[in-house]
Formats: sequence, C-alpha cells, structure tokens
Amino acid sequence: MTIRAAIFGASGYAGGELLRLLLDHPKAEPVAVISRSQAGQPVAAVHTHLSRLTDLEFTSALPEGEDEPEVVFLAGPHGYAVDAAPPLLDRGIPVVDLSADFRLKSAASFERFYGPVPAGFARQPEFVYGLPELFREQIASSRAIASPGCFATASILALAPLWRAGLVADGAPVSVFAITGSSGAGVTPTPTTHHPRRASAFFAYALDGHRHLPEIEESLSTVGGPAAGRIVFQTHSAPLVRGIFVTATVPLTAAMDRDALRAVYREAYGHEFFVRLVDGSPDVAAVKGTNFADLGVASSGDVARVFVAIDNLVKGAAGQAIQAMNILFGLPEPTGLKMSGVFP
Ligand SMILES: NC(=O)c1ccc[n+]([C@@H]2O[C@H](COP(=O)([O-])OP(=O)(O)OC[C@H]3O[C@@H](n4cnc5c(N)ncnc54)[C@H](OP(=O)(O)O)[C@@H]3O)[C@@H](O)[C@H]2O)c1
Repeated sequence: MTIRAAIFGASGYAGGELLRLLLDHPKAEPVAVISRSQAGQPVAAVHTHLSRLTDLEFTSALPEGEDEPEVVFLAGPHGYAVDAAPPLLDRGIPVVDLSADFRLKSAASFERFYGPVPAGFARQPEFVYGLPELFREQIASSRAIASPGCFATASILALAPLWRAGLVADGAPVSVFAITGSSGAGVTPTPTTHHPRRASAFFAYALDGHRHLPEIEESLSTVGGPAAGRIVFQTHSAPLVRGIFVTATVPLTAAMDRDALRAVYREAYGHEFFVRLVDGSPDVAAVKGTNFADLGVASSGDVARVFVAIDNLVKGAAGQAIQAMNILFGLPEPTGLKMSGVFP
C-alpha cells in the first residue's frame, strides 16, 4: 500500500516539513504539492534542503481522475481550509488541516479569537481534534482531522494526565509559561518576526490572550473537569528557530512528590511512542527535527511543575499530521516518523 498524498500551502514551512517527512515515509508518497506563488517551479527552488530528493514541481491545482490523491494536507493560513476542505470531503478525500479553522467546537470561542464565524464553520462537527495521544479512537473513525496548534500540543500533553486524574486543585489558576521559536510564525517576515528583531530577543506576546488557549481548554474539558477560565496562558518569543517549551505550574488537590508525579505520567504515556518521560528538564535541542514530545516533572509539595519540549514544525505540525494520517489508514503510528534528532 502506498498512500498518495497532496499538500496545499506546500511552499510554506509546515508544507515543506510535510514534504520532507512524506518523502521518507515507507507507505506514503507525495504526489502533488500545491502553491499559488510557485506553480511550475521545482520543489528544490523553494525547499533547497530537498534538492536531489524529489523531482516534484509545484502545481496550482489538485490532480484529478486517476491521479487524485487519497489524502490531502492543508497547510495554508487561517481562513483557507474553511473553504478548501468541504469540497475535498464531498469528493470523499480525507483531509488533515494544520490550521485552526476547524479546531474549536465553540463558535463563540472562534469568534472571540479569530473573528467572524465563516459559513464553512458549519462543517466543524465532522472534524476530530487530531491529538493522537488523547483522541486516537476518534481519529481512526474520522475522515476530517483538525491538527492541533503547536503551543496547544505541548500544553495539553503537559496538563492532561493531572487533569484527567482529577488532581488539579480548583481554587488557584494553572499557569502555562510557553516559549516559541521563530518558525512558528511562518515563512513571511513581519516587523515582529524577522531575523534582526528576533535573533537576540526574548519577550512576551499575545498579552490579551493567545489563540491556542480555547483549544487547550476544550481538550482538557473533554478528558476531565471543565477547564474554561482555570488556565493563565502566556506565550513568549525566544531566539530559537524551531522549538516550543512549556512550563506548566499546577496547584494540586494534595501534595505529591516527584516519584508520585512521575507515576501519573508513566501511567498516561508509558505506552506512547512519541512521549518520552525524561529525568530533569526536557530540552528543545533534543527534539529538534523529531516527532517526540519530551516531558519532565518536578514537585513543590502541593504544586507540580511539568515541562514539555517539542519541535513546533514536527510534533507541533507536520509530524503530528502524519501521525494522524497513519491512524486514518490503519498504519502503526510511528510509520515514517522515527526520525532521530541532531545533537548538538
Ligand atoms: N509554523 C508552525 O510551527 C505551525 C505549527 C502548527 C500549525 N501551523 C499552521 O500551519 C499552517 C501553515 O503554517 P506555516 O507556518 O507553514 O505558514 P507559511 O510558512 O506562511 O506557509 C503557508 C503557505 O500557504 C500559502 N498561502 C498563503 N496565503 C494563502 C491563501 N490566502 N490561500 C492559499 N494559500 C495561501 C502560501 O503559499 P503560496 O502563496 O505559494 O500558495 C504559504 O507558503 C498555518 O495555518 C499555521 O497556523 C503552523
């Protein structure tokens, strides 16, 4: 079996990462890479790191008939998939969308964080939130996947085990201090994201609330008690290219030492290939280029600290989307995703 895959938004960072991973996937093949700006150009003209590894050229539209793909990844900006996904689904083609268009169940949350709710949002109930470690059964029985945001992936993985076990105290807020590298902002430079601004800077942003908060709240509420209003989520920009690092500070219902915390996380993730429980702190350098989420814990008595590091473009985007594709097509989840990192 070879799954024929197409990528929309293939000239961008997430699209390029999908291509890099699919070219090495033993059971899938990228057959079409769609770009408005690069149609007719060879892939290597944009993604120079893929030179000699593929002869594909960017096209402006999806092939039809015999060449029609069996799965489509949508890696365009916010607002694109809401129009692009429904016709694909109507043609019977499964869709994995990397944008936020179909992640939120609540139209009110969508409106608050993304603006007016478009007509295509009516298709949201067809979509499953594509975090395999929490929702793999729903993914397996769906044809429409809303792949999680990068901050959301790290934050949910950090909090879900304590949340599900009912170990989070109600009275005090849970704090999530989250840091991202610059590739999270995509390929087009802006005054706050281009290299001279970012290279030696460290600052907080989205001070009035980050868009990933509602998907964190919705997911945690699905696995445990209501989460709305209980999390203080603050994002920061760090001088990294790739990487998300999250420190969650969690008030507990009762004191737990480090061993007790580790037991909760071992129970939750011991069987998960892509979540590695580490001693001490995880490190974004150790997960760079990989689909791993490294997780560590520390205890301050009745307050837990949970640390997670991921690569925003892999476990936070393309790798996780391919993990969901593997589930959709009945493949073992690590298929094509056992990349080692590069270190140092
Ligand atoms: N970067 C990350 O770490 C990350 C993590 C998780 C999720 N995501 C999500 O993945 C998606 C892609 O992110 P990215 O970082 O790869 O962005 P990007 O680097 O800006 O790439 C997006 C690509 O989409 C195409 N595009 C732009 N405007 C479009 C439009 N109006 N209609 C159709 N295509 C358009 C562009 O290609 P052409 O102009 O050549 O068509 C562009 O190269 C976003 O929704 C983002 O939120 C990104």
